[in-house]
Amino acid sequence: MPLTDKFGRAITDLRISITDRCNYKCVYCRTGNEGALYGDLPFEDYLRMTRVLVGMGVTKIRLTGGEPLLRKGVVEFVRDLGKLRVPNQNGGEPLDIALTTNGHLLADLAQPLKAAGLTRVTVSMDAVDPDRFARITRVPNGYDHVLAGIRAARRAGLWPLKVNCVLMRGFNEDQIIPFGMFAREEGVTVRFIEFMPLEEGRTWSPTTVVMLDEILARMAEYRPLVEIPHARSETARRYRFDDGVGEIGIIAPVSHPFCGHCSRIRITSDGKIRTCLFSVWDHDLHAQMLRGDSDKELADFICEVVQKKEERHHIGEPDFVPASRTMVHIGG
Ligand code: GTP
Ligand code: 5AD
Repeated sequence: MPLTDKFGRAITDLRISITDRCNYKCVYCRTGNEGALYGDLPFEDYLRMTRVLVGMGVTKIRLTGGEPLLRKGVVEFVRDLGKLRVPNQNGGEPLDIALTTNGHLLADLAQPLKAAGLTRVTVSMDAVDPDRFARITRVPNGYDHVLAGIRAARRAGLWPLKVNCVLMRGFNEDQIIPFGMFAREEGVTVRFIEFMPLEEGRTWSPTTVVMLDEILARMAEYRPLVEIPHARSETARRYRFDDGVGEIGIIAPVSHPFCGHCSRIRITSDGKIRTCLFSVWDHDLHAQMLRGDSDKELADFICEVVQKKEERHHIGEPDFVPASRTMVHIGG
């Protein structure tokens, strides 16, 4: 019996933040200051939480942060996750293990991560121009590291390789067509994301969001696009260029919310469950472990929490209440 919330949505996708530290200070995420951290847990604690959730129907794991590659031991953790099996009649099958990273440290880690059992990687990259990239990330010389990381991931066979670009008006909407070219040249799927109100600086307003229709119109000036089918629970709408070379995606949580098909649950770096990016509270799974709960008791706790999963977010509505954490302390 899969883990299901009160709206009938099956929870199959777990995102674990393994640190809330980040070596970038992107303008759409951070204020530019260091800020307080919630901290992180020993990997064995995340492993136990994952094992319990896999026993309850989770089949996909995505490691996030902060920046997950800052965490020493991440390769060994992926290896341990790779030993878990999704129960089925044939004795179990491996998990889908993905990672979201800013790519700065990926060049050296791509091959070891693949060898350890990582299936896929998504790299966040918000400009294809080194100067613009530095302005957005507030880090000099990051662009070359990230490009090297993307290429190393492709060589290592971390596939399909997705590049996430958050568009923020006034910063990078002129990068849409250059990213279309990049997708074709590098053979990666570039996904444009509508900016959501999850940033530290509280700078979001509807006018800062570059929305799906505008992205499509801008890209069509470069080359026609053809929409291709996407999985129900997938966040992105998918498009191919008319000549079949290059794929882009658009993740449009603001203009076209996808909450009705949400299959996700999150564990923060300090071991709290979040049922939605926009939750105004979280649920302390780690505290349950510390007080000595058995796996069965942890599973019961998780079941109860999942029943509280929010029906949808309220971005842009008058009753919108900001999430109790910003993105860097949740994990994307
Ligand atoms: P796969 O299907 O495993 O490839 O993952 P994905 O398509 O969900 O990709 P990814 O983890 O890269 O998520 C892409 C982006 O979608 C995130 O960075 C967020 O900006 C946004 N996103 C992911 N999950 C949610 C969610 O539950 N709610 C909202 N509103 N946005 C989300
Ligand atoms: N809105 C949309 N996407 C965001 N990300 C970070 N902050 C936001 C936001 N406010 C994306 C990052 C990365 C993933 C972790 O989430 O670019 O791809």
